[in-house]
This record gives sequence, structure tokens and C-alpha cells, in this order.
Amino acid sequence: MVVAEDVAVDYLNPAHHGRTTAIEDASFDVRRGETFVIIGPSGCGKTTLLKTIAGFMRPTRGKLLVEGHPAREPGPDRAVVFQDFDQLFAWRTVRDNVVYALRVARNTPVRAAREKADAMLALVDITRAADKYPHELSGGMKQRAAIARALALEPTMLLMDEPFGALDMITRNQLQIELKNIHRRTGVTIVLVTHSIQEAIYLGDRVMVMSRHPARIREIVDTHDQSDVESPRFAELTGKLRELLVHRDQELDVPEEAVL
Ligand SMILES: Nc1ncnc2c1ncn2[C@@H]1O[C@H](COP(=O)(O)OP(=O)(O)OP(=O)(O)O)[C@@H](O)[C@H]1O
Ligand SMILES: [Mg+2]
Repeated sequence: MVVAEDVAVDYLNPAHHGRTTAIEDASFDVRRGETFVIIGPSGCGKTTLLKTIAGFMRPTRGKLLVEGHPAREPGPDRAVVFQDFDQLFAWRTVRDNVVYALRVARNTPVRAAREKADAMLALVDITRAADKYPHELSGGMKQRAAIARALALEPTMLLMDEPFGALDMITRNQLQIELKNIHRRTGVTIVLVTHSIQEAIYLGDRVMVMSRHPARIREIVDTHDQSDVESPRFAELTGKLRELLVHRDQELDVPEEAVL
């Protein structure tokens, strides 16, 4: 689905004629239908990598192919969900957010768009909020709505940048369980950035650990089928990922929440 070969991404800084290398030598692939998780220290380049897959940015060096083609620009085949609670159109109801996206991105006729929107809202369990405006929703509901809108486009890939990062623990756990179910039901390929080791193992089929800025790939760890956080295997993977994250970055604080 995604093939990255020696990808490097620089940000140019016109003020100083300088450049910041955010990612260096990244080679990896994302397999169709898997949940591929990216973790790494803050500022290492996770969002940059996700934006490059989404087509918002282009690699400065190397090759990044999505379904065999360079990801030159964004498209509805790669729907993005951000951490930010304010990614919905504030002046449209929850249902109309989804309808509008379908009309614009997929040219869906109004009636079909409404039906699809209602099905998606049911899938993420916010049917009760269909006629509310974003400012009337909790953070968790806004994220559900953003996920519904993204899924409505029937993307081949769902790109998620810390989508549950700003939620309380209970809401976050609920949404993790639901995302796992949605993934099972739709088979959509997910690329997810998170700071939580537990979330990475629970949701991920594979977890790619990145090093400090500029980000290089440290290791890609197989974490598929880990839904029992109490299991010895889960604990073992947690230890392994923690070690990969702090290794050679001793001065780095691993967030409390990342530690089970
Ligand atoms: N628009 C930009 N212009 C210049 N430098 C940038 C820009 N966006 C990001 N960077 C730099 O690129 C590096 C990677 O940033 P990025 O946002 O990808 O990190 P991240 O891993 O997502 O961090 P976090 O975990 O805090 O979200 C950082 O050093 C950042 O300062
Ligand atoms: Mg980020």
C-alpha cells in the first residue's frame, strides 16, 4: 500500500536560508489492511511522515509510493484525522459535516450522502448527536464525528495523528476498542501516530519506532493480535518498545502515560 525507500524530508527556512531535516533515510512499507503505528520522541518527525504519506508534503530525497504512485497531492483515498478537536466545520451539524465531505470529495448526490452519513454516524456511535453543532459536542464526540467523516469517503487509508491524545483515559480506551472493531469490519489500512506504547501495541499490527530528531527508523516490531493488556506477551512488548524509545535517548522523558 505504501512503499518508502530512503525517504528524507527537509523543511526549508527561508529566513535563514537554512533547512531542518525532519526525517532521514526512512525505508518501510505499509501492508494493505494492516494497522501500522508510528511512535517516537516528540519532535522527531512523526507528523511530518504522516503528512508526506497524505500528500501534503513531498519527500526531499528518496521515493514514497502509495499504491504504486508517488503521493504528490492529498486525495480522498487517504483520509486524515488529527488530534485537534476543531477539525469539523463549526457551522455545520455533525451529519452535515459528513454530507458536505461526501458532496465535495466524492460527488455523492444529497440523498445518498445523507444515508451514508447516518450509517457512518451509527458505526461510530454518535447517531444521537447527528443534529448537533461541533460546539455542542464533547472532545470524544468530536473525534468520533471526525472519524465518521473520514470513513464515509471510503478511503483506502486512514491516516491518524494522535487522534485520541487529548481525550481522558476512559473515553480514549472506548475509542481504541471501537477503532479496532471498525478496522475489523472495514478492512481499511490505518497509519496511526501515537505517544502511548499501550495504544500502539493494542491497535497496531506493527509498530515502527523512530529515533530522535532527525528521525530515523529504529525498529519495526510485530505487535499483531495483542488485545489482552494483562498478558505476558503484552508486557514483554511494552518493555521492548520502552527500551527502543529510551535507548540512546537517556535524557528523554518517556511520558508517564506511555508506561503501562
Ligand atoms: N513547518 C515547519 N517548518 C520548519 N520546521 C518544521 C515544520 N514543521 C515541523 N518542523 C520541524 O520538524 C521536526 C519534526 O516535526 P514533527 O511535527 O513531524 O514532529 P512529531 O514527531 O510529530 O512531534 P510531536 O510528537 O511533538 O507531535 C521538528 O524538529 C519540527 O520543529
Ligand atoms: Mg506530531
